[in-house]
Parts: sequence; C-alpha cells; structure tokens
Amino acid sequence: MTTQLPDRAEIDATCKVIEDHCPSIYTWQYQRTRPQLVTLYDKAAHSQWVGATDLDWSIDVDPESLVDLESPNLRLMREVTKMPGSPIASWGDAELVQLGMEMFAALLSQFMHGEQGAMMTAAKIVDSVPWIDAKYYAATQTMDEARHTEVFARYIEEKVGEAYPMNPNLEAQITGLLEDSRWDIAYLGMQIVIESLALAAFGDMARRIEEPLLKRLLRYVMADEARHVAFGILSLGEYYEHLSAAELKDRQDFLLEHTVHARARSTTPEVWDRMGVPVGAVVPYIMEAAAALESSPFQNFQNGFFAKLVPNVRRLGLLDANDGYLRERWGAAGLLEFEFAADTSADYATYDAVAADRSAGGD
Ligand SMILES: [Fe+2]
Ligand SMILES: [Fe+2]
Repeated sequence: MTTQLPDRAEIDATCKVIEDHCPSIYTWQYQRTRPQLVTLYDKAAHSQWVGATDLDWSIDVDPESLVDLESPNLRLMREVTKMPGSPIASWGDAELVQLGMEMFAALLSQFMHGEQGAMMTAAKIVDSVPWIDAKYYAATQTMDEARHTEVFARYIEEKVGEAYPMNPNLEAQITGLLEDSRWDIAYLGMQIVIESLALAAFGDMARRIEEPLLKRLLRYVMADEARHVAFGILSLGEYYEHLSAAELKDRQDFLLEHTVHARARSTTPEVWDRMGVPVGAVVPYIMEAAAALESSPFQNFQNGFFAKLVPNVRRLGLLDANDGYLRERWGAAGLLEFEFAADTSADYATYDAVAADRSAGGD
C-alpha cells in the first residue's frame, strides 16, 4: 500500500480538465411535445446493443489482414518510396504493411478518443438543452457513446496493440465544444459536423475491411450514429427558426471554420516515430507525391463527409440564411455537389444494422 500521491506529470498524462461555460437547465415541463424526438428516443431504447455479447470477441484477428496495400493512402506511400532522396527509399512491402498497421491503429485510436468526446458532449446536452424530449434522447446517446468508446478501446487493446494519443486537432475541436457557453454549438459541432464525419469515416473503413468482428462493430456503431445526426437535425432545425440573422451568421461562421478552414488533415506524427522515420523528413515527400498523383488520398472520404454534411446543413436552413452566405463560400470551395442528397433525418433508419441482424436472427 502506498500513500504517495501521483505527481503533476502523472496527472497530466492521465487526464485533462475542461471548464464548461454553459449553464445547466432544470425543466418543469414534462409534457412530450416533440413527437419526432419521442419516436427517436423509443427507437434508441429498442436499438440498444451490448458490446460484450452482441459482438463475437473470440474471433482471432491478424492485424496484417487489416492492411490493404492498394488503399489510396498506401499507394501514395509506395510512390514516396520511389522518390529520389526519400527517407523511406529502402522500403518494400513488409515495411509498407507495418506502416499500414500503425496507421490503422492511429485511426482507430482517434475513433476511440472521439467517442469519449461524444459521450461527454451528449452528457453536456442532457444538462444544457431546455426541452425534456431532447434531454431524454441525449441520455440514450450518452449510453450509446459509452458503448462506442468501450468497444473501440477493447478492439484496440485485444486485437491491434498499443493505442495512439489523441490528435491535437480533434482534441482542440472537441474541447471547444465542451467549453462553449451556447448549448446549440455542442450539437452543431458534434451531431452535425463530427458525427457526419464519423459516419463517412466508419462507412469508408467498413467497406474496405473483411475482418468480421470490426465490420460488425462498425455497422452497429453507424446505426447509432445515424440516429445521433437525426437528433441534431430535428433539434437544431426548430431552434434555428427563432435565431436572429446575426446569431445565424455566427453558426455559419462556425461551420466554415470547421470545414473549409480545417480541411487539411494532419498526419499522426507518432506513426512515423514508431516506424523510426523523422516526420519532418518524410512529410515534404508525401506532399510532393500527393501533388504528382493529382489527388488527395482522402478524396473518397472527403466526398463521403460532405455528402452527409451539406444536405444536413441545408435542412437546418444554414446554407441559405443571410442571403446564402454559407452557400456562396461552400460553393466556391466546390462542396455543394451533394446538396440534394438525402439528409440523415430522412434516411437514418437505413443504417440500422442492429435491427436487420435481429430480424435475420428471428429475435
Ligand atoms: Fe459514437
Ligand atoms: Fe454519436
């Protein structure tokens, strides 16, 4: 037994303290006045699944099998190995597979950290949203996000290896939502931006991999995420009808800040550390190879993200408010291609892999 307290560095390494500036709201209005949220809440209650028993953790996973050498990202890295002077010029397939495994672990780690942020954001919404129907729904989401965090953490630990730290951009983004004094910003940032992004990223990974445990895990998580995005659209659509032009402009600027201005995805420098390559030495080669290929390795994923995000934002009225302020800027950035795709409040049920598996299993 020890009585010694952990030192400051140890505390800093294991947790982060965030100050929330948003007031908590107790409501005395218990009447259910928002039928679409009632439906969504009932659906969420019925669609709960259990990480420990609905997924088959006995499945053996070979981490190498998770790597696709023909993925756009690794094709790009192969180009980097061919460039004169490249710090990875000596690499062959074995090293590329190793890199692919590290990149996969880094991405899954961001999913895990992001899910914890989503759990805290959903809990903040329980606290701060003024409507009882939305508090009820956000409580189910908090549980969903706990399950997502738990299953990603378990998958990494049991099947993949050591987790990576949180990407500083993602950390700053979620911290901002948790600190903000305006309750709707937590919704807009999480339910509309980050969860639209998560749906695209999970979908992209689920299509690429064959590994049955992770594939099912992702399908189940997506079933929940689609509901979360629908929750954001239904709640914010109502709230934004009553905001002033100046307040709507703030929300439009928030969306610009989190899309156009933040489009450059950072690499995870720790991946290169683990591969024994100085990140500063390799990044210029990656940029040059990407320019030569005339395509971003993230293009499919970006398309998937905006195909979700733009219709959802249009549905909220934020594309056209203030004389089309956001429409003009997203249009100039080439992001409006998917404007008229189905928004997630209309198609969330199509993601329900949990219900599909249950009816196939007869229970
Ligand atoms: Fe989630
Ligand atoms: Fe979510």
